[in-house]
Amino acid sequence: MNILVTGGAGYIGSHTVVELIQQGYNPIIIDDFRNSEERIIEGIEKIVKKKICFYKIDLTDYGAVKSIFQKYLFEGIIHFAAYKAVGESVEVPLKYYRNNLGTLLTVVELAIAYNVQNFIFSSSCTLYDVSKTNNVVTESTPIGIGQSPYATTKRIGEQILQDVVKANPNLNVLCMRYFNPIGAHPSSHIGELPQGCPNNLVPFITQTAMRKIEFLTVLETTITRRMVHVLEIMCMYATLLKLML
Ligand SMILES: NC(=O)c1ccc[n+]([C@@H]2O[C@H](COP(=O)([O-])OP(=O)(O)OC[C@H]3O[C@@H](n4cnc5c(N)ncnc54)[C@H](O)[C@@H]3O)[C@@H](O)[C@H]2O)c1
Repeated sequence: MNILVTGGAGYIGSHTVVELIQQGYNPIIIDDFRNSEERIIEGIEKIVKKKICFYKIDLTDYGAVKSIFQKYLFEGIIHFAAYKAVGESVEVPLKYYRNNLGTLLTVVELAIAYNVQNFIFSSSCTLYDVSKTNNVVTESTPIGIGQSPYATTKRIGEQILQDVVKANPNLNVLCMRYFNPIGAHPSSHIGELPQGCPNNLVPFITQTAMRKIEFLTVLETTITRRMVHVLEIMCMYATLLKLML
């Protein structure tokens, strides 16, 4: 069963690809490695002990992505490809709108054109408004407006998908909201290896420990963060996909 995994060489995508293969699916990765590395593909192959299909393509390039839909019959799509740095999104919002919405629009448009019926969107908890809930997120926490351009891309992304589902009732969509994934596959062949300066806390800590980064500034010591292991996230995606198919 072919499953398209966009951003499948990234942190969460690469772990999910491992789990999908272990569950018997045939994941096809599209990623242009703008925030990952081609050697992650080798890392996945070492873990699963087989070659995997990947295409180095910019997911905003409609024609190039279409050529992959022409090649494979996909049973499902897991859409991870996006920029994810909240702080950077405030500085360069258009970069985030163009990429996060551009990749989503390309993939969803092609999903409909090629009658792919199952679509999982990697959303984020950053879209919740925690200003009145003492930074606590529960399932009843309201969605915020303007938390950050990154959060807005996820909110608009979910809205786009809601509208598309209304117009295309055959399309099943799940939006996964979560945050603070940490950890790595126990093989250490894959992990959280962002390009440039990390934007998530744990790679910042590990790269400081490795002396790749000089120091880590702690601005706030009162926040309690609940983390979720990336192995749990990868299992969650595979389980959800199984329920949808
Ligand atoms: N890591 C987190 O804290 C977290 C939490 C919740 C949700 N998410 C969401 O999950 C998804 C994956 O996050 P991640 O931590 O694995 O990020 P990541 O940066 O490690 O992975 C994203 C991958 O997408 C690729 N990509 C981005 N734009 C592309 C484009 N236009 N064409 C082709 N490839 C492109 C990158 O090269 C990268 O490999 C993102 O949508 C992110 O917003 C992340």
